[in-house]
Amino acid sequence: MSARAQSAPGVARASARGPGSGDFRVGLLGHGTVGSAFVVLLQQRADEIERFNGRRPVLSGLLTRTQGDFEQILAGSDLLVELMGGIEPAREYLLTALRAGKDVVSANKQLLSQHGEELFETARERGVRLRFEAAVAGVVPVVRVLEESLSATPIDRIHGIVNGTTNFILTEMTKGASYAEALAEAQRSGYAEADPSDDVSGRDAAAKMAILARLAFGAPVHLDDVRYEGIEHLHGDDLQYAKEFRLGLKLVGTAERLAGGLSVRVHPTLLYPGHPLSSVSGPFNAVTVESRTITEITMSGPGAGGPQTASAVLGDVISAMIPPAQTPPTRERLTIVEDVESAFYLHMEVADRPGVLAQVAQVLGLQGVSIKSVVQKGLGENARLVMVAHPILESRFFAALEMIAGLDFMRSRPRAIRVIEAEYV
Ligand SMILES: NC(=O)c1ccc[n+]([C@@H]2O[C@H](COP(=O)([O-])OP(=O)(O)OC[C@H]3O[C@@H](n4cnc5c(N)ncnc54)[C@H](OP(=O)(O)O)[C@@H]3O)[C@@H](O)[C@H]2O)c1
Repeated sequence: MSARAQSAPGVARASARGPGSGDFRVGLLGHGTVGSAFVVLLQQRADEIERFNGRRPVLSGLLTRTQGDFEQILAGSDLLVELMGGIEPAREYLLTALRAGKDVVSANKQLLSQHGEELFETARERGVRLRFEAAVAGVVPVVRVLEESLSATPIDRIHGIVNGTTNFILTEMTKGASYAEALAEAQRSGYAEADPSDDVSGRDAAAKMAILARLAFGAPVHLDDVRYEGIEHLHGDDLQYAKEFRLGLKLVGTAERLAGGLSVRVHPTLLYPGHPLSSVSGPFNAVTVESRTITEITMSGPGAGGPQTASAVLGDVISAMIPPAQTPPTRERLTIVEDVESAFYLHMEVADRPGVLAQVAQVLGLQGVSIKSVVQKGLGENARLVMVAHPILESRFFAALEMIAGLDFMRSRPRAIRVIEAEYV
């Protein structure tokens, strides 16, 4: 460890004993929200880990922007924990560590979703481990469950609420807050960053779904393969109508095996009341794994926070202290399917005159869209028409939507949200 690293308060306390022969030396890259919580947890748990593991984890070095030397930390560590975030230099550091035969733990979803292929391939070639439980759904142990407990289970589909910020905002909007009020509340409560764009655009959830899809289906899914849509354009109105249809609105990530390949996507979704994700509220995360052989498993818990995330990171460190198993090779290459079937909620502001409903129905019928339920409300000279459509190929639904948008009685652009309306059995 460098002299400067030793001067950091957390490091000095954590390594006060100094590394001994039975020590498991952990080099830490990043000492922010999660990194600093990890140092505290490591100190608190070291005695117990030593008792059941025979080796004591000690902090052997710490790198931030202003302290520590990467090469020295690498040379003096058995394992590296990367909690810096971002792509570079995290990618270069991890590749260097893996090539040097060191196990690595990372919570970096952006890096894994964009450079997972070269990182996992390097780990496999070198026979070392790259663990990343905290990169998806915080402390919810979905990575371990998919990698180990369900490794013999053919998975059909995963649904996830994997972004706590957006789930908090949608929960507040369901209680009547506007999008702007809910976002401000999320920022006040520490659930949203000053710049929330990665969360509210769906990009953060898309990165996590790319990682989950890789795990569940053994396919090299890149962030660019994930279609995503955020929550910025949602209206309080949509949530009120959702209530009328007894549906709850969530930002849901889906990864599913389809005839011809794999679809991975993130978008606002209306859920029927019995769906396991419909009761997940506030900043919580949850993931549902569906398979014909096991029906369905749902895991939920805190999706972020320093101490919570640090606990998942330390779990990975402990599992890496057990003698290594081979990192399994990528199982199969599935083609990404762009067009999938979804049910839809459709919201239209129209002129209140005879024949409007019939024309909308005709356009929908032309594309094969069949309507399950309709609510119509008069608003003086205008009317609001809200429908739920049965599942249809998305391309056909959006073709109908474009045609409807061009009808002369439309008072604003029609809005659509996907709906999950049936239980998986
Ligand atoms: N926060 C959460 O609740 C949470 C949850 C799940 C996953 N994660 C993931 O955990 C990782 C860390 O998140 P965080 O919230 O702890 O981040 P953070 O608070 O911003 O801390 C980042 C740390 O990394 C250091 N760092 C950044 N760039 C560096 C560079 N180029 N060279 C050396 N050090 C550098 C920073 O150094 P300085 O101290 O010098 O600035 C800081 O100590 C990210 O990948 C994030 O996505 C976070």
